Amino acid sequence: MNWVEKYRPKTLDEVAGNKVAKEELKRWMEDFISGKERKPVLLAGPPGCGKTTMAKALGRDYNFDVIELNASDRRSAEVIRSIVGSASGSKSIFGRRILIVLDEVDGISGSSDKGGLKEILKIVKVAKNPLILTANDIYKPSLKPLRESCKVINLKPIPTTVIFSVLKKIARNEGLDIDEDTLRVIARHAEGDLRAAINDLESLALGGSLSLEDAKKLDSRNVEKTIFDTIRMILKTTHYNIALLALWDFKEDLETLEEWLAENIPREYKKMNEVATAYDYLSKADLFLGRANRRQNYSFWRYASSLMTAGVALAKEEKYRGFTPYVRPKVFNKLLQVKSEREILKKILSKISEKTHVSIKRAREDLHYLSTILKENSKLGAKIVDFYEFTEDEVEYLTDKDTAKKIFKILKDIKDKEKKYKKVEKKEIKVKDTKNEKVKKEENKKKKEKEKDKKETKGKQMTLDAFFQ
Ligand SMILES: Nc1ncnc2c1ncn2[C@@H]1O[C@H](COP(=O)(O)OP(=O)(O)OP(=O)(O)O)[C@@H](O)[C@H]1O
Ligand SMILES: [Mg+2]
Repeated sequence: MNWVEKYRPKTLDEVAGNKVAKEELKRWMEDFISGKERKPVLLAGPPGCGKTTMAKALGRDYNFDVIELNASDRRSAEVIRSIVGSASGSKSIFGRRILIVLDEVDGISGSSDKGGLKEILKIVKVAKNPLILTANDIYKPSLKPLRESCKVINLKPIPTTVIFSVLKKIARNEGLDIDEDTLRVIARHAEGDLRAAINDLESLALGGSLSLEDAKKLDSRNVEKTIFDTIRMILKTTHYNIALLALWDFKEDLETLEEWLAENIPREYKKMNEVATAYDYLSKADLFLGRANRRQNYSFWRYASSLMTAGVALAKEEKYRGFTPYVRPKVFNKLLQVKSEREILKKILSKISEKTHVSIKRAREDLHYLSTILKENSKLGAKIVDFYEFTEDEVEYLTDKDTAKKIFKILKDIKDKEKKYKKVEKKEIKVKDTKNEKVKKEENKKKKEKEKDKKETKGKQMTLDAFFQ
């Protein structure tokens, strides 16, 4: 028997967590028995938190025979009808009362199953036996009528500390050699799903290694996480630690995650203030990302990733249950980016063409060399950038963010030095104001010659080679 079955609680007392819901269930059962209550219970909660277990344990505690049916199974309605339909049918062949557990009612969806849902609704309205329905997502529009005809009891994900203590008991019982830190990692990784935690523990034990390292690898051993899983984890959880764990095994870069979150936050969060707070964290994360890249100080990544995961996750007051159809970041964002890049390229080419009097076509041919020089030799790069009067965006287009920064820093240093030099020069000129005419004439002559030179070169096609001559 697998551990999940082996350690399935038999009584409600043994069920971990959700104390309030357990009390509510007991009260409902007592009211049903005494005839005060007629409505079935709709037990809602995330996977593996104990819905089916609780329903069955409750039945056992109150001496009912439990019949467990799956709502997606078309035969279920028939079976239930045969039980609740006849007057005497409310007792089992053993003469005991019957509790019907109709599992996973949110599994019936789509128009083909509409009949099934209607059937269940009919049963719910006439059932004389206690009936417990379970579902993960009860906020599907199609389940509205069911919600209204039932007493809804919500279960929460099992807190990590509770999962930890269940795992500890199992580990002791199985005689496992595993330390508490490792158990804690498994517990955290389960995100409130106790079934998943027990399964993970069992598979690690079967694998023969219960080290912390192996527990940390749980994710990658399972199916590789997709970006959808990662954003789901961040947008669904309200737990700081779980949100941080979303990046374990995340294969893409943080910029990609940022785009995905930006696109999907308003799809998940329904309150204005939550959306605003989430975006606020995202923009702060963006600042750190920029800093990390610019300064090549990758410790900033830590801040960026915490803000993107925990910051965005905790922006909501409570978890939104139910399935949210996440989408890829809008394509038009990409197009916009491409468009602005095209604009930058156009400017670069026109500057080259203007300064060196070459055609745009020729300028384009030089682009490759230009970009190589800028990347390989920042000092020379700075001079070229100054000559062409490129902006930082343009240099970034030709190289990358870091190189552009570097070149502009060198350029600034050069300009600063020039300014200083000019100041000194001015002072000297004042002192030497008495320079004789002859020298001045000589200088004028030289100047004119230079200008003439310049004019001559203007007519020619000046390529990048010309620049270096
Ligand atoms: N609250 C709990 N206390 C103790 N064990 C639990 C609890 N919740 C889940 N488990 C363990 O996980 C297993 C599966 O739980 P159960 O089938 O009740 O989950 P569920 O909420 O019905 O999940 P699903 O939504 O997938 O139907 C149980 O057999 C038990 O081993
Ligand atoms: Mg279940």
